[in-house]
Amino acid sequence: MEDITGPIAIGCDHAAYALKEAIKKFLLQKGIEIVDVGTNGEDSVDYPDFGEKVATMVSLKKVPRGILICGTGIGMSMVANRFPGVRAALCSGMYSAAMSRRHNDANILALGSRVIGEGLALEIVRVWLDTPFEGGRHQIRVNKIEQATSQKAEGPNPGTSR
Ligand code: RB5
Repeated sequence: MEDITGPIAIGCDHAAYALKEAIKKFLLQKGIEIVDVGTNGEDSVDYPDFGEKVATMVSLKKVPRGILICGTGIGMSMVANRFPGVRAALCSGMYSAAMSRRHNDANILALGSRVIGEGLALEIVRVWLDTPFEGGRHQIRVNKIEQATSQKAEGPNPGTSR
């Protein structure tokens, strides 16, 4: 297990409630503290409401990592990646999960409860928590993600308007 300082925030929509509960149980068994933002049942809800909560906590560094789950994981990853400093990785296999940590320093794991079963989901969570970021040339690239997106938010690159 990598040394993660602080709790892991977890959120889901109705499609992923059962999987969220299974992941919570798995994390608690490992002695990992959790902040559960909901949803807390299978009544229909809107995934952005829960994605926003976890992404905000990660973006503001209130928690080091988050896990977001919806039916496909796509909506949750779209929401999360709008937040500064968030690097959400939608993973449906262990290789992607490990690489999202090694090369991309992913701080949110997005999962699709209608895409993968519980057994694979727990393996993905395990490998995602166990795998460290390699840094080095990958740190330079990760830094460029934030640089590129903040430049776009400020308007077009002056170099291209001449
Ligand atoms: C809910 O039906 C579904 O749209 C949601 O869980 C998710 O898959 C969205 O990306």
